[in-house]
Amino acid sequence: MAAPGPHSVLYKGMMLPALVHSTESLRYAQLGFQVRDRDIFSVTYPKSGTTWMQELLTLIHSDGDPQLAQSVPSWERVPWVEQTTAAGFLENRPCPRLISSHLPCGLFPTSLHGSNAKVIYTVRNPKDVCVSLYYYSKMASFLEFPEDFGEFVELFSAGKVLFGSWFQHVKGWLGLRDRLNFLLLTYEEMHQDLRGSVERICQFLGKPLEARALDGVVENASFQAMKQNRMCNYSLVPENIMDQRISPFLRKGVPGDWKGHFTVAQSQAFDRLYQEQMQDVGIRFPWDEA
Ligand code: A3P
Repeated sequence: MAAPGPHSVLYKGMMLPALVHSTESLRYAQLGFQVRDRDIFSVTYPKSGTTWMQELLTLIHSDGDPQLAQSVPSWERVPWVEQTTAAGFLENRPCPRLISSHLPCGLFPTSLHGSNAKVIYTVRNPKDVCVSLYYYSKMASFLEFPEDFGEFVELFSAGKVLFGSWFQHVKGWLGLRDRLNFLLLTYEEMHQDLRGSVERICQFLGKPLEARALDGVVENASFQAMKQNRMCNYSLVPENIMDQRISPFLRKGVPGDWKGHFTVAQSQAFDRLYQEQMQDVGIRFPWDEA
């Protein structure tokens, strides 16, 4: 997304797809939406495992039974608080409400602070996020982007993509982790040990599952199972909005795909920026070890 075009909303310096966002929906999310103590938020920078967490939370709350996950679209089960449909989906929903958000912490519902709501923040190697967002921008007609991957890396590095800078998003949320009911997960650990990650989520939510229910969650949230589930693979979205012949929404589902896309020079430049931006964060991520 090079510049705000006809498909974008510009809100407080951040570009968002106008298809599902408006100035009003963003204002409502920040100021009008009333967070409740039993709310459960899944917060992600785009392409970091949002859909995966929507599936996991649904399945955990259904004790591993896939019926709901296979009959109601993911965006309705775990709706985004910033989208135009949020009030309709969420206001009359009983607790615990499962809620998604891509908002940076500065634009998040202010009533989160002082509440007992839980926040699960999922973070992914930014180089893989960049690759995933590049293909998503290609297949989604509401996103503008340069065909040249090198140019896209520059836009991503400068935060000139939807929801702004990855660095600002991650640093902002991690800065709040001691002040909130907060669980930090990485896409990479979910990929390496899905069962263990589900157990961590269950423990955080205070919702222990029996072994059979846990099996149900893990089976139905695998990449293959999700690819087949029309309620989360985005095949319900018309082709003129998301053309999955160009690139499937559930594309590869692995860590490290960046290695086949970044040149050595692009990778080194990004690493320098990463060091500069992340040196004070004080957390080692799985990709820092590589
Ligand atoms: P890739 O494009 O690298 O394949 P989001 O839901 O935040 O938009 O993120 C989408 C990314 O998460 C895509 O990455 C998608 O394939 C991946 N993903 C979704 N479900 C997954 C799963 N069950 N296992 C692994 N990756 C998954």
